[in-house]
Amino acid sequence: MAIAENYDEVLQGKYPAKEHARKVAKWIIDKGGDKNGTIYLEAQKQKLQEDNDSEAPFRQRRYFFYLSGCELPDSYLTYEIATDKLTLFVPPVEPDEVIWSGLPMSPKEAKAKYDIDECKTTKEVNPHLASETESARSTIYAIQEQVSDDITFLSYNEKEFSLLKPAIEYSRVTKSDYEIALIRKANVISTTAHVNVMKAAAKAKNECELEAVFLKSCVERNAKNQAYHSIVAAGENGATLHYVHNADTIKNQNLLLLDAGCEVDCYASDITRTFPIKGDFTTESLAIYNIVLDMQKQCIDALKAGVLWDSIHELAHKIAIKGLLDLGILKGDAQAIFKARTSVAFFPHGLGHYLGMDTHDTGGNANYADKDSMFRYLRVRGTLPARSVITVEPGIYFCRFIIEPYLKDAEQSKFIDEKVLEKYWSVGGVRIEDNILIVEGGVENLTPTPKEVDEIVKLVKEG
Ligand code: GLY
Ligand code: MN
Ligand code: MN
Repeated sequence: MAIAENYDEVLQGKYPAKEHARKVAKWIIDKGGDKNGTIYLEAQKQKLQEDNDSEAPFRQRRYFFYLSGCELPDSYLTYEIATDKLTLFVPPVEPDEVIWSGLPMSPKEAKAKYDIDECKTTKEVNPHLASETESARSTIYAIQEQVSDDITFLSYNEKEFSLLKPAIEYSRVTKSDYEIALIRKANVISTTAHVNVMKAAAKAKNECELEAVFLKSCVERNAKNQAYHSIVAAGENGATLHYVHNADTIKNQNLLLLDAGCEVDCYASDITRTFPIKGDFTTESLAIYNIVLDMQKQCIDALKAGVLWDSIHELAHKIAIKGLLDLGILKGDAQAIFKARTSVAFFPHGLGHYLGMDTHDTGGNANYADKDSMFRYLRVRGTLPARSVITVEPGIYFCRFIIEPYLKDAEQSKFIDEKVLEKYWSVGGVRIEDNILIVEGGVENLTPTPKEVDEIVKLVKEG
């Protein structure tokens, strides 16, 4: 059976905080760190909105969550490397708070829920740090800007602020079974939401109605947080890569580009589908759709552990070039076009990014200063390890702001047939995005959302 395929069964266990703590500690020790050190992390604080007594939306700090699985604000943790002891500190009972919010989770309940050795209240953080544990008087590992003013590390000989953050960022790239199960569950819920949008599209009069269908489908499955702002773009709005206005009237546009994904227990899904709003592609939109689908399928088929992501991104460009040459939008020699980077005008972003607790997850080693336009926005550089999860999201866009400078540059415009291009502006953009688990020798696609032409047309038409 594939990794964490039965996600409900896997999620009956606990989030593997201890396994993650050990992984992070090993990275620190491998870098020459202190075997007797202590890791210290803080949860995000619950804040109020400015000039208002309502709570601001809360997003747990990912570094803290990775070593605790705890979603509570204002909490703390320590992990003593030598004794393998993970201690969580949760907020104590504050009588004034209980009036409004009910009783908080008790240390006993927290100990039962999370994969930890001990749970105390946050009143005990400083005494605990000062106590004569085996780790005292050694090194404390923390994240510089994530240590509250009232926290004291007085009993530690060394305070180390440069290793913990990269240790967690590196560790997060390869996922445990539990993390894969969470991403899988988020994908299943988001898939239902995508399908519901396809079914509702033909009757919609405005993009915002379709955004509402997506959000409702997630919230009613208890996935209350989105991993990112949904992109619900009809027609030419699809050419804006991160369009978030989502409020244009739907009239005669042909395609809808929907890039949306919910979060489950801090883990993201990130899915894009593009489909004809009334169920009928135009000749032009279908031709572009088929090129993007081909780019995506061939790239997914080429993936396995150890593959160089940069080369898969190049493969996507080569398929795009062939497709655009066949349509006559591009003209000339495929290799010369590839070398001139002309396809970047139509596919300006990277092929994908790691996915996990963040939509654009840690550890990608992007180089946003790369002088090569083909790689500047590639969020992952280098080889992909087994158990990483990466999005594969090729696209072709007809964005005047991006393409027009190419038309004005003689070295680029010689490869573009402006007359043929004229027919394609109304396509807007096509992107297809799945979440792919890398394994030894291949992949597993975690995104079950329909994408074949006949499937999506049927869903839209049957409503
Ligand atoms: N939804 C943002 C992205 O695909 O990267
Ligand atoms: Mn993405
Ligand atoms: Mn996306």
